[in-house]
Amino acid sequence: MAHQVVCIPGDGIGPEIVEAMRRVVDATGVAIAWQVHEAGAAVMGEYGTPLPQHVLDAVAEVGVAIKGPITTPVGTGFRSVNVALRKHFDLYACVRPCLSQPGDGSRYQDIDLVIIRENTEDLYAGIEFAPQAPELEEIAKLVEGSGQASFRAGSALSLKPISVEGSRRIVRYAFEYARKCHRSKVTAVHKANIMKETDGLFLHVAEEVSSEYPDIAFDHRIVDATCMGLVQDPYQFDVLVLPNLYGDIVSDLSAGLVGGLGMAPGANIGEGAAIFEATHGSAPDIAGKDIANPTAEILSAAMMLDHLGEGQAAERIRAAVRQTLAIGTHVTGDVKRALTGTSDGAVGTQAFADAVIKQLEQV
Ligand code: NAI
Repeated sequence: MAHQVVCIPGDGIGPEIVEAMRRVVDATGVAIAWQVHEAGAAVMGEYGTPLPQHVLDAVAEVGVAIKGPITTPVGTGFRSVNVALRKHFDLYACVRPCLSQPGDGSRYQDIDLVIIRENTEDLYAGIEFAPQAPELEEIAKLVEGSGQASFRAGSALSLKPISVEGSRRIVRYAFEYARKCHRSKVTAVHKANIMKETDGLFLHVAEEVSSEYPDIAFDHRIVDATCMGLVQDPYQFDVLVLPNLYGDIVSDLSAGLVGGLGMAPGANIGEGAAIFEATHGSAPDIAGKDIANPTAEILSAAMMLDHLGEGQAAERIRAAVRQTLAIGTHVTGDVKRALTGTSDGAVGTQAFADAVIKQLEQV
């Protein structure tokens, strides 16, 4: 019987890379019944929301979805659909493997690390107050009353909730992942020297949980030092577990170690649902031109196939992508540019997918 999968094409480069991904997945022979649903700015007019209820219902029923990126207006407008999906389904673990591919155009070779990002708390919780919000006066009074220096009048405020439960389950997830995937070390990343309460709590919980896993090494690093360490010597890292915002930033940094955003897949995992998507956004600067790299989306689909129990097809996709990039004659402009300084001779999004499909026949 076919696997039911909700497919949200998204906007910007989303529809192009999702089409490429679907053709590759279908070429593996695994039967998928794609339930396609739109979300984002394009459906606002029709449904009055960028995330209509029927999309949530479909994901709730099926439990597995794959999506393209969805644009979030900066500073104004609706809140991120991507963040809303993660919160609605409590997809607390964002898993982002960063693995070098031959010919990925990166300055580094043989990178193999995994970012595990907490997905529901922290400054991403969306608890914010505009400078004019009436609650701010009350909050300022509370802060003053607590004996702490208050904030300037006219400030906006974002809250950073980090809970014991939220920290414990993401750190446990990281250790369980390390065990399952035969990895040797988990590094907790924080800024507990400055944010002694929130990041301090995260660190304390991470230390506590680490004692349940004597077979996996554990260490911890301050986030700024982690960034420098990743650039100077990324091989010292294995699995990194981070609160939401640091996880977001360090994910993009790590994608830069393996050829860029076009290469970095991801999964958002919860107890009742899993949503797979590339690390990158909707790339409006290159949308609609058939030049986006669909590798990250295709590799996200491989993670989805693993999740669906189709590990063999997932491995075939990973091998076909690796082989296509290693041959190097059919790669997209971002990769070509990184390798040669120009995108001359690059192929388009769909032609890259064709090349991967051709390799699939041989693996
Ligand atoms: P972005 O990731 O879309 O683009 C950053 C740079 O990377 C751009 O130069 C873009 O052309 C390039 N790039 C990204 N993906 C690529 C690919 N597959 N192939 C080749 N080049 C690629 O980040 P940006 O511009 O900050 O965000 C654009 C929009 O996407 C924003 O509205 C943002 O909120 C949204 N976004 C959505 C996400 C999601 O749906 N999960 C995640 C991140 C951002």
